[in-house]
Amino acid sequence: MNDIMSDRFKGQVAIVTGGAEGIGRAVARRLAQEGGKVVIFDRNIELAEKTQVEFARENLRILAIKVDVSQPEMVIAGVQRVMNAAKRLDVMVNCAGLPGPTNTKITDYSAADFDRVVHVNLRGSFLMAKYCIPPMLENNYGRILLFASIAGKEGNPGMIGYSASKAGVIGIVKALGKEFAETGVIVNGVAPAVIQTPLLDQVKPEQLKYMVEKIPMKRVGTVDEVAALATWVVSRECSFTTGFTFDLSGGRATY
Ligand SMILES: NC(=O)c1ccc[n+]([C@@H]2O[C@H](COP(=O)([O-])OP(=O)(O)OC[C@H]3O[C@@H](n4cnc5c(N)ncnc54)[C@H](O)[C@@H]3O)[C@@H](O)[C@H]2O)c1
Repeated sequence: MNDIMSDRFKGQVAIVTGGAEGIGRAVARRLAQEGGKVVIFDRNIELAEKTQVEFARENLRILAIKVDVSQPEMVIAGVQRVMNAAKRLDVMVNCAGLPGPTNTKITDYSAADFDRVVHVNLRGSFLMAKYCIPPMLENNYGRILLFASIAGKEGNPGMIGYSASKAGVIGIVKALGKEFAETGVIVNGVAPAVIQTPLLDQVKPEQLKYMVEKIPMKRVGTVDEVAALATWVVSRECSFTTGFTFDLSGGRATY
């Protein structure tokens, strides 16, 4: 997408977690293309720095910082670094996440795997919101977007940890939307079905077949389609919706 002419995020500062690749990378790029100053938080700093260099070739200035979203000290230090440098925070999009075991019945799903998936997907969402909301409140303005999944709305068999963690993310979105509804801070979620990203390499073929067959459009989504919705949700234009998880499922979830 090189034909973006808008400057919806001019003067704004955004943190995008999981921005080294996949959905986060596409969201970070579009925010920067539309004038935002973007900081990527990713635990894979080598890949995040590679992304930073690739964006620089497109004249997009993005800063990569090593942050594991499940670790409070790293989240606190990362947000503090952004605030020290930029003195404001307008947008936070939490894309960091992992699928964990797939095509695996609960009887074969270890408690350690369950904890690992919940730790990143759910605890990470909690920590990122917890530490990004205070600087947003200082300006009475903020837009938070947490990535849930169709698995959290419908439950994907064979992915118990992932489904549970993403249902939890939807719960966080609902609670925080109400908790801050009278401030300028808006909290929403998005629940995609299958999107073409490196994450799909971690999904067993039988599981992927099940998930794609469930999509009425009979295709996977693209990261640009995700970025188009996500950037609208974190723009000023989205002003009367909070606590809601937007659909992005090619017709699978019509609610
Ligand atoms: N791709 C899909 O089909 C799909 C569908 C529904 C929901 N989602 C959700 O969208 C989000 C993005 O998915 P994606 O497909 O782009 O994934 P991806 O695997 O392509 O990219 C995920 C990024 O998150 C980073 N990351 C992982 N754990 C982290 C941690 N603890 N701290 C910081 N960074 C971490 C990775 O290094 C990577 O850069 C995830 O939350 C995922 O669950 C994806």
